Order: sequence, then C-alpha cells, then structure tokens
Amino acid sequence: MSSVIGTGIEQRAAGELPRADRPAVYAIHENPDWFGPFAAAFAREGVPVVEWLLVGGSLDLTEPPPDGVFWSRFSASSHTRGHLGSKDQTRSVLSWLEAAGRRTVNGRAVLEFEVSKVAQLSALRAAGIDTPVTTAVFGTDALVPAARRFAAARPGQPFLIKHNQGGKGLGVQRFDSVAELEVHVASAAFEEPVDGVTLLQEYVPSADGSITRLEFVAGELVYAIRADTVIGGFQLCPADACAIGPDGAPIAPPGALRAPAPGEQVFSLREDVTGLPVEAIRRFLAGAGIEIAGVELIRTADGRVVVYDVNTNTNYNPVVEAVAPASGPGAIARYLGQLLAAVTPKPGRA
Ligand SMILES: Nc1ncnc2c1ncn2[C@@H]1O[C@H](COP(=O)(O)OP(=O)(O)O)[C@@H](O)[C@H]1O
Ligand SMILES: [Mg+2]
Repeated sequence: MSSVIGTGIEQRAAGELPRADRPAVYAIHENPDWFGPFAAAFAREGVPVVEWLLVGGSLDLTEPPPDGVFWSRFSASSHTRGHLGSKDQTRSVLSWLEAAGRRTVNGRAVLEFEVSKVAQLSALRAAGIDTPVTTAVFGTDALVPAARRFAAARPGQPFLIKHNQGGKGLGVQRFDSVAELEVHVASAAFEEPVDGVTLLQEYVPSADGSITRLEFVAGELVYAIRADTVIGGFQLCPADACAIGPDGAPIAPPGALRAPAPGEQVFSLREDVTGLPVEAIRRFLAGAGIEIAGVELIRTADGRVVVYDVNTNTNYNPVVEAVAPASGPGAIARYLGQLLAAVTPKPGRA
C-alpha cells in the first residue's frame, strides 16, 4: 500500500495513515494503478515517498501530521473506481494538513478545480483565456429545457454534454440537435453526473483533428502533447491503463471515428507550441495556486485557441515520455524533492 525509499514506516493501527520516520513526500491519491511511473521517478531521484491511499481508514485530528511535503493527486474520476468517498476524505486530510501549516502541492483549494469544470472555466475566463461557451445545468430535469435555449442561441451548431466532475471523458457526448439529446436523456445510456451538474457546451471543431495538452510542473511547461481525436475520441486519458480493454485489445472510445490500427498512437509529442497561450496559462495556474497540471486546448480553423480542461491530477503517456525532452514524473519528483529539502523536522514529532 505504501512505498518509501531508504527509511522505515512507523507501525500504526489498521486504517491509520502510514508515516515515515523522517521527512518524506506524501502522495495522496486513490488509484495505485497510476502510481508506478511516479514511484520509479522518486526512486531515481532518491526522494522518499509514502503513498496515502484515501479509500477508507481514519484520521486522528488531535495528532499533528508528520513532517514532509504533501502532494495531492486526487482524481476527478475516483468515483468510477468505486471510490465515492475519496473526494471528501481528501478534502478532510488536506484541511487537516494545511491547518497544521504543512506544505501541500495541489492542495485543498486546487481540489475544487479538479472536481469542477465550472470552477475551471470560470477562472480561465476571468484570466482572459478563451473557453467554450458553456451552460451549467443543475439536475437532469433542467437539461433539455436548457439545451433548447442553448441551441436556439446558436442555430445549426453542434453541442456537447459533459460532466462537471469529469475525467476520462466522462459523459462527453456530441449532439447535432436537441431532439437527439432528448432521446439520449430518456435512454438507459444517459449517465447521471456524480455531482448533479451537467454542462452544455459549444462543440469546438479542431482545425486538424487533434487537441493539445500542455503539461506544467512547478508552474513551468514541461512539454506539450498532441492527442488524435479521430482515433482517441473523447476519452483522452494518457495513462497506459486507460487505452487497453480487459482483453488487452485497444479500445475505440466514444467520439472516435475509428479504432486505432495496431501500433497507431493517440498521443505524440507536440514540439511546436508557437501561437499557443502558454504564458497566459502559466499565469492563470500561478494565480490559482495550481503547481502541477495538464491543460487541454483546441485550435480551430478560424484561429481561436480554446482552453476547456484543467487536469490537476495528471498522468503521462509512456510513448511521449520516451521521446520528450524532459520527463513529467521526473520533474515532479525533482520539484517535490527540492521542497522536501527545505522542510525542517519539528522537534518531538515523527
Ligand atoms: N467543447 C469541446 N469541443 C470539442 N471537443 C471537445 C470539447 N470538450 C471536450 N472535447 C473533447 O472531449 C474530450 C474530453 O473532454 P474534457 O472536457 O477534457 O473532459 P474530461 O475532463 O473528462 O477529460 C476532450 O479531450 C476533447 O477531445
Ligand atoms: Mg480532458
């Protein structure tokens, strides 16, 4: 359940969070399947890391947290792995850590961005960044009436629905008419959003059938990736574990025009970021206190660059990592190691 390099872990009662016997990086998450590349990067950098898997357990609020740096990689899609309670467990642990003055990375305030595209899009707009025209709909009953108003304002234009708390392209579906949406909402295929909030969103056509994801660590661009939406569709989860079905075969996700051919990759390194609003996004992230993020955008044929998704829990694609000038997990391990070096153990504490 936890890994730590070069130090021991204090024996604790079942369900209590493990503690290293000296300052460490604590990685707060709920999906061990995604952690491998990060564990390897911490090992390479010689940075001690302890995993806190928030899928149950208990927290003694009277006890001070251990000394260390606390990195949240809470994922918006945690509920799809049966971890419905992880969101509030992570909120609880981060509140406890920050009240005790511990250094968090992508901490309590950032979690609210991870679980709300309304929060992301509102803050992006306020920062002067172009975002898709979006209406947030509260409750399923309000969806079709809201879509009628939305479509009437932009006749003949396709639109999307997506979940406010997304990740992995949850609930993302394109419609060309409200009649189509009405059929879908009444069908068994309709997925209720976990927080009751569905977004109606302008469909932004990509100029070249791809989207761009800009990977930031410590507030700086590490690299950009290109994701092919023709074969990748709406489920552009860069982790290896997302691209392969239970039978080991590639999946043609919803929104894809065709399945990938054997060996054909959805993700590649985008070397040229000319014309992309890297600096505006960098400033937005700094203002929001988001230190690690993958930010997705679409460039249109008519010259718009539209930012639509801020992933504060980010996975790195192995194919891209193999050719990129720098490593995402490597940059994270180095950055957290630097922060850890500045942590002075408090006397009398574990
Ligand atoms: N407004 C949009 N117009 C066109 N395509 C979109 C739009 N929003 C999302 N998509 C496509 O759907 C994918 C998933 O949507 P996204 O908002 O990133 O949700 P998630 O948080 O679940 O990843 C995107 O990567 C993109 O390919
Ligand atoms: Mg996305």
